[in-house]
Amino acid sequence: MIYLDNGATSFPKPKGMIEAMDACMLSYCGNPGRSGHDLSRRTGEEVYQARKTLADFFNIKKPERVIFTSNTSEALNLAIKGTLSQGDHVITTAMEHNSVLRPIRALAEEGVVRTIVPCRPDGSLEVSRVEKAIRPNTKLIVCTQASNVTGTIMPVKTLSALCRRRGILFLVDGAQGAGHLQMDVNGIDMLAVPGHKGLLGPLGTGMLYVREGVSLKPLMQGGTGTASKDLIQPKEMPEGYEAGTINAPGIIGLGYSAAFVKKIGVEFIRDHQRELTTVLDEGLRNMKNVIVYGPSDCKKKVGIVTFNIKGYDCEETAAILNDEYGIAVRGGYHCAGLAHKTIGTWDTGAVRMSMGMYNNQRQMKIAIDAVHAISKKR
Ligand code: ALA
Repeated sequence: MIYLDNGATSFPKPKGMIEAMDACMLSYCGNPGRSGHDLSRRTGEEVYQARKTLADFFNIKKPERVIFTSNTSEALNLAIKGTLSQGDHVITTAMEHNSVLRPIRALAEEGVVRTIVPCRPDGSLEVSRVEKAIRPNTKLIVCTQASNVTGTIMPVKTLSALCRRRGILFLVDGAQGAGHLQMDVNGIDMLAVPGHKGLLGPLGTGMLYVREGVSLKPLMQGGTGTASKDLIQPKEMPEGYEAGTINAPGIIGLGYSAAFVKKIGVEFIRDHQRELTTVLDEGLRNMKNVIVYGPSDCKKKVGIVTFNIKGYDCEETAAILNDEYGIAVRGGYHCAGLAHKTIGTWDTGAVRMSMGMYNNQRQMKIAIDAVHAISKKR
């Protein structure tokens, strides 16, 4: 199998991560922060080390500003619902994933007003359109670091400067950027990250960074292992926002894999993926019956190539690639309907090939040949 669905989750995972999770579950997996015995304490220490690794990865000064979540959707829900209230205005873009657009839509019921700024057909965003959308009550701007549909890299630095100038909170969705592009939280108020994509961690892990001074309502109330006689949810970070028993083996695995990615180097990974993407993108763009979406300059995107073959439904192409060529891709709408509207595939969806650090040039050639052969059949 040639795995080109790293945008959905990365595969394979580092062997050492599996060993770290195994070691946890086999030899010491107590409930961290709950009891005073050795197993609980050891698990607590390992979770703290993972928190520290993730903090270092994104240049976060204090590890307690990292809240572990079960995925990016939970992190984004926490950030969006935790900061917005009735009467607030929020700005986001048409290239966002539903994990941004749906919580914002849900808040409309509670009197939060939204502006979704349109993007260009290649998914890129004009910051001046965001600036024009700012109102006196704009509380938050949310933008993805890179689109999960086209890979288009968004102008996060310029948006961050705009937010600072105008005193607006800035939340970045790092779902397709973390581990693929350099990211530093300097100038960002909140950063939502998946554990299981570019950081190569296990599924069911993620995190939210929250800058000191940002006031955040928790999504859930429950046991924190602290202040047990008090019926009011503690506000301390991170425990006040991690109610209930956490996924300690997953978090420990994520700590290992994030350290592994850091050691290889995000810039090295980005360059490797860019080389692969350039070859694949050019190969597909040169085919008569293939339409490729998103930027043609691969410096402007992460390792994603999205396309359709004329005469084929996108799901059919994805199924043929899987069944006849052993190539795993994702067809359809990628949980981002408005992004598909932006690039002109509202009625058709598209096929996405998303590369990871374990892919190679030979696989790109096989993928190009497979698409070419399919396109010739009809
Ligand atoms: N959000 C993930 C994707 O783009 C699952 O496929």
